[in-house]
Amino acid sequence: MEFSTKTIHAGQPSEPETGSLIAPIFQTSTYEQEAPGQHRGFDYSRTNNPTRARLEAVLAELEGVQYAAVYGSGLAAENAVLQAYLRPGDEIVIPLDVYGGTYRILNKVFQPLGCVVRQIDLSRPGALEGALSAKTRLVWIESPTNPRLLVYDIARIAAATHDAGALLVVDNTFATPLFQQPFALGADLVVHSVTKYLAGHSDVIQGAVLAKDAAVFEPVKFLQNATGAVPSPFDCWLTLRGLKTLELRMQRHAENAEAIATALNGHPLVRRVYYPGLADHPGHDIARRQMTGFGGMVSFELDGTIDEVVSFVSSRRYFALGESLGGVKALVCHPARMTHASIPAEERAKLGLSDTLVRLSPGCEHQRDLVADLLEGLAAVEQARALTVVHAAV
Ligand SMILES: Cc1ncc(COP(=O)(O)O)c(C=O)c1O
Repeated sequence: MEFSTKTIHAGQPSEPETGSLIAPIFQTSTYEQEAPGQHRGFDYSRTNNPTRARLEAVLAELEGVQYAAVYGSGLAAENAVLQAYLRPGDEIVIPLDVYGGTYRILNKVFQPLGCVVRQIDLSRPGALEGALSAKTRLVWIESPTNPRLLVYDIARIAAATHDAGALLVVDNTFATPLFQQPFALGADLVVHSVTKYLAGHSDVIQGAVLAKDAAVFEPVKFLQNATGAVPSPFDCWLTLRGLKTLELRMQRHAENAEAIATALNGHPLVRRVYYPGLADHPGHDIARRQMTGFGGMVSFELDGTIDEVVSFVSSRRYFALGESLGGVKALVCHPARMTHASIPAEERAKLGLSDTLVRLSPGCEHQRDLVADLLEGLAAVEQARALTVVHAAV
């Protein structure tokens, strides 16, 4: 079955009782049993729910594995993996460029419990091998990363991780299974903020963990029920609906991202564009090798002041200023003040996360409108500068 066919058919037969083409939302907390303990696979909706089961089935198919569990948010999914695998004294290796919430849960929740977080510059040759030890349980990466869209060689990292006897977790949120299949590259677990491209319409908060090996999956699945961070049947249904257009949406997001990166690259007010599709992007060759598309995100550093960035991001016509990404409606974000504000300023500087970095999540609008909106914004910055010079002269 091809990818787009899977998004529509996998795990989603018409509902058997009525023939309903799209299965209804099983909005129920519990299930009538024939005799104590005798039921049809469903006994309580924290443990299992037919709408959630459909979603888990299609997500597993899309990532090319057997096992998926969905959670009430991406961070709840991350928490399940971390809780399943980290004990006091265990070590986890993460790169410098990691989603702020992942950094926060590790440093504020798991480090105080006695887990050791080793944050390294993964692009430096030998850095990973130097950080791995007999105590390493997990290596955790994103690729492309948030927000600088760095690309890491997943197969190489998987090999080094396995040599050390650890598991590799890949956050595949930015690439989506359409553009990147981490399990084929050696990942042991994949996590998603389903909130983003998978659900795709900025109306759901949800997460997922996937695994190819039953033994690796089992402790994570156990925590779904044991700690109870499950999504509602309605949210699962919304994601099932959103997923059906994943390929179409991703193609559009990717085309828009490419048009924007091309328009911004070389602009006098843009110091640097981060987009894996640009030939001079440091991860371009790896991206070509391990991805089938460069994704839908673009970030850039404005060659200006923080005030200019604030004014630029606050006054766009189509790019709404907001956290999150991956929806049909375009979003713009200022990571230093928003998504990555939980990372202290000096840490952000060490991570190469400039205070004038702007992150764009082009939606499915027409690329001409999106590009024009950004170029108008840059022109407004230039005009404001010219006015300041005139005022100063007067
Ligand atoms: C790459 C990445 N992973 C995980 C998360 C957390 O997901 P959620 O916001 O659904 O909890 C996010 C959220 O922005 C993210 O960007």
